Amino acid sequence: MVRKKISVIGAGNVGATVAQFLAAKQLGDVYLFDVVDGIPEGKALDIQEGAPHWRYDLDVIGFSTSDETKYKNMEDSDVIVVTAGLARKPGMSRDDLFDKNVEIISDVSRNIRKYSPDSIIVVVSNPADIMAYALQKFTGIDPSKIMGLGGSLDSSRFRTFLAKELNVSVEDVNAFVIGGHGDDMVPFIRYSSVAGIPIENLLSKEKIEEIVKRTRFGGGEIVNYLKTGSAFYAPGISITAMVESVIMDKKRVIPCAAYITGKHADHYGIRDKFIGVPIKIGENGVEQIYDIDFRPDELELWKKSVASVEASSKKVDEWITKHAH
Ligand code: NAI
Ligand code: 2OP
Repeated sequence: MVRKKISVIGAGNVGATVAQFLAAKQLGDVYLFDVVDGIPEGKALDIQEGAPHWRYDLDVIGFSTSDETKYKNMEDSDVIVVTAGLARKPGMSRDDLFDKNVEIISDVSRNIRKYSPDSIIVVVSNPADIMAYALQKFTGIDPSKIMGLGGSLDSSRFRTFLAKELNVSVEDVNAFVIGGHGDDMVPFIRYSSVAGIPIENLLSKEKIEEIVKRTRFGGGEIVNYLKTGSAFYAPGISITAMVESVIMDKKRVIPCAAYITGKHADHYGIRDKFIGVPIKIGENGVEQIYDIDFRPDELELWKKSVASVEASSKKVDEWITKHAH
């Protein structure tokens, strides 16, 4: 049996954390890349040295890409997780990261296209829907092989807050968040339930509103505590769930930023862009997109999120035009 290979680009807080979780779950060999000398080598070795206790007979290896030829080690990855980029500090929105991160994604994309264009790619760097769009444009890779982190994490936060409020197991809370991974994301109340019981039957309107608001600003809440950066444990777990569904062909249905085209574009009112919707994740990447019906109040929220994703995606097109020569 040939072990799967997972490359993680960016060995910072999210990259190193997800590398550790992927190894612990024995999903495959983990190759960790970062532009800073010594960081990926050191962190990968550190993770590798824990293997006897958690019994992962895998290779966890780091490569500094200050020497760009080291990207060759990414060749034939089954999955690539892209976490390279700046993280937020207090007072910053995810969109404030655009200028720097689009350059980094251009760099990373060039190497993905060169060494491993057939991989399934999970884009984490923020703003994630927009960086997924940029990565697709830069690489030309089939968009169904690319997904962005957003809903997987936002829904995890939403479910956690609901479970805590109701004092029930997180396992029995089903809820999801769609839209862009930004302040206009849409926690979807109507499809949220506890073991099938609608949350609207269990919580007051005011309490639900409070939880929705906390979910939408969940990333900012952590940034305000940490001050030096943003969340990485729940993101690491949320990414691992997506990668596991690809590697094990689990066909989990998780909201993620996916490329909306064809009949889905007619339904969602956004075309040829990435935005968070429920998708089925399997060995081929995004295997199905589910169209959700909106009530008028929900549609209003959805349209706001679409407008903000459209506006930021346009910045990618402008960046590409500006750097075309
Ligand atoms: P971090 O600052 O701890 O790590 C980022 C790493 O990227 C650094 O080690 C840096 O050296 C590396 N890097 C920069 N340029 C690079 C390049 N050209 N090639 C390779 N590596 C490069 O940041 P953290 O906390 O790990 O976050 C990473 C990104 O993920 C941020 O943009 C953050 O906003 C985003 N994020 C997105 C989430 C989502 O739900 N979509 C959740 C959590 C983080
Ligand atoms: C979050 O939501 C940083 O986008 C990331 O925590």
